[in-house]
Amino acid sequence: MNRLGLGILGSGKGSNCRAILERIRSGALPAEARVVISDVFDAPILDIAREFSVPNAYLQPGHFRTRLEPQAEMEFVRMLRAVGVELVILAGFMRVLKSPMLDAFPKRILNIHPSLLPKFPGLEAWKQALAAGDKVTGCTVHYVDEKIDHGDIIGQREVPILPDDTPESLHARIQVAEHELYPEVIARLCRQRAS
Ligand code: GRF
Repeated sequence: MNRLGLGILGSGKGSNCRAILERIRSGALPAEARVVISDVFDAPILDIAREFSVPNAYLQPGHFRTRLEPQAEMEFVRMLRAVGVELVILAGFMRVLKSPMLDAFPKRILNIHPSLLPKFPGLEAWKQALAAGDKVTGCTVHYVDEKIDHGDIIGQREVPILPDDTPESLHARIQVAEHELYPEVIARLCRQRAS
């Protein structure tokens, strides 16, 4: 089976990136991580890339807080293209993508979000679910479009909310589900592409 070329973007601790790289290493995910890029110089996700010997880079995001400056976004596109990335994986990337990236990779950018979208888009979705008094939340993998935590849903996993949950305990349980769901969804896309 052809291995799908992945480019992983993240700003933080990179636990989803680690889960994906582990599945690739075990042979369960027929993909190849071509590059990991961060907008944060010392983000742990870059250390994870180095641990797995995946090419990695910090790219300057520019002066905006919640998105990349257009020039910076073009740099991201150039680097992803240069290494032959076919699918862009957002793994805790804390900036909204705009047209340079969306136009370069139409329907080829995935994100994972810690709620059952369309419920609770935005930051700290697990806190929103707790505050709403819900009994179940979860995580969602979706295609990225121009809106935040929006776009066609590809896969979801439910996670129970327990009576004594704190934000931390709930977030940890959701992350365990994320680490299963994200590689599974990517593997499904790889199989579809190969068939
Ligand atoms: C995850 O909870 C994901 O749902 C959200 O950002 C977090 C990234 O975590 N988009 P990590 O950096 O993969 O550990």
